[in-house]
Amino acid sequence: MFGRDPSPRDPVTRELPVVVATMTRRHLKAVQAIEAQVSPRPWSLDLFRSELAQSEASRAWFVARRGGAVVGFAGIMLIVDDGHVTNVAVDPSCRRQGIASHLMLPLCRAAIDRGALNLTLEVRASNTGAHALYRRFGFAPAGVRAGYYPASSHGPAEDALIMWVHDVDGHEFAARLAALETELEVAVS
Ligand SMILES: CC(C)(COP(=O)(O)OP(=O)(O)OC[C@H]1O[C@@H](n2cnc3c(N)ncnc32)[C@H](O)[C@@H]1OP(=O)(O)O)[C@@H](O)C(=O)NCCC(=O)NCCS
Repeated sequence: MFGRDPSPRDPVTRELPVVVATMTRRHLKAVQAIEAQVSPRPWSLDLFRSELAQSEASRAWFVARRGGAVVGFAGIMLIVDDGHVTNVAVDPSCRRQGIASHLMLPLCRAAIDRGALNLTLEVRASNTGAHALYRRFGFAPAGVRAGYYPASSHGPAEDALIMWVHDVDGHEFAARLAALETELEVAVS
């Protein structure tokens, strides 16, 4: 076990806490490796770099690490009163262990700190797992963008479900985040 990097697949590593940190350029290789595994149209390293180069007022990006390995990431873009969740992904070997939920918490808090009143996102109509994740954070379906995701070698064109959660600066949303933080026993560095 000594002398090699920790792997998210190691049974021992799976027991370690999830730690969320601000994404920096040194995380990007691992981030892009996850992106390449999970997305039919993966973001390039240059696109991630350009996101990190945007102003702190307009973007927030986080990585989740466990045992030193990056196991997921998430980003949000701020436009006036709205925070637009632009990307959330978790290493396929680490799913259903609360990692995306750990990432969504600071993402929501970062958006609120930057003045967001509402949060929104687009998600594939077939991605019912992600719908459930976002519902946990109060997002509700508000419409459909037909054919939003173009056809690719992975499948035909697909509609996007548009989801929103409003009044994220209010008490109700604060209580939801606090309850989730307790449930997830959040550790942030
Ligand atoms: C969607 C995704 C980010 C979820 O990551 P995750 O770390 O597995 O999510 P969590 O463990 O925090 O799940 C939180 C809750 O969301 C729901 N959920 C998440 N994935 C689910 C799935 N595949 N099926 C059903 N419910 C799911 C569950 O309610 C879950 O709570 P539970 O495990 O206690 O039942 C991950 O599957 C992924 O990276 N998918 C590919 C990329 C993607 O689809 N991103 C979203 C695009 S908008």
